[in-house]
Amino acid sequence: MKIHPANRNPLGEAADDTSQGLASSRPAVAYPLLPPDATPTQQREYERGRWNHFLLDTTWRQTRFNDQPNTLLVEAVRGRSAGNALDVNMGEGRNALYLAQQGWQVTGVDYADKALAFAQQRAQQLGVSLTTIAQDVTTYAWGTNQWDLIVLCYADEETHVAQTYAALKPGGLLVFENFHADVNQARGIKPGSQIGFATDELKNTYAAAGFQILRYEEPVGVADFSLETQRLVKLVAQKC
Ligand SMILES: C[S@@+](CC[C@H](N)C(=O)[O-])C[C@H]1O[C@@H](n2cnc3c(N)ncnc32)[C@H](O)[C@@H]1O
Repeated sequence: MKIHPANRNPLGEAADDTSQGLASSRPAVAYPLLPPDATPTQQREYERGRWNHFLLDTTWRQTRFNDQPNTLLVEAVRGRSAGNALDVNMGEGRNALYLAQQGWQVTGVDYADKALAFAQQRAQQLGVSLTTIAQDVTTYAWGTNQWDLIVLCYADEETHVAQTYAALKPGGLLVFENFHADVNQARGIKPGSQIGFATDELKNTYAAAGFQILRYEEPVGVADFSLETQRLVKLVAQKC
């Protein structure tokens, strides 16, 4: 079972991961813990506030965040005609801004409104335009046959396969990167709190839904979002 996002910190670590000694080698990422009796609404607000905090925190950005666009995404769109793209759980805009600079018309959805405002400010500085929607993605309508590209980059713990299939235009591309489930063992994350995607889970799920798998890898490498070395999952798939 995968952990509720509200119980993870912005690196995807469980809230009690500091007890694993992981934090000792890194700069502190202190943020108040979620009260155990928090309601679902309070959990959501907590998580939104935490993302707003970390994505814009100067120390965190300098030490534990990669503000460059995701390499898999850069490679996947290289040589493709720009179209319209949906960046799901966009964050502070590193990928959306890259795409916009390549001529894509980008819509980014995220509930971290301050992170979206930061992205808009950068877009203005770069002379590009972005559409940003401050909304919980669980209530956002992705549309039907609407997008040439959907980006799910360290977005959350869902495959989103049905929404992605419906929302992409035929021939449209999905770019997906996240942690492999091996991260749970590496970090000592307890059963019931686990994160990440199992071996071949994404490849099989997307293939079964009718996608053509253009690229699938599970390398041990630097997590593009958080700068930690872990086993990752990387998928590029095309809607047939
Ligand atoms: C690990 S960050 C990744 C950000 C971005 N995709 C990137 O690669 O830089 C996860 C993002 O998902 C957003 N997020 C998580 N759950 C969400 C939800 N239910 N609705 C909207 N945004 C959500 C957070 O606010 C955060 O910006």
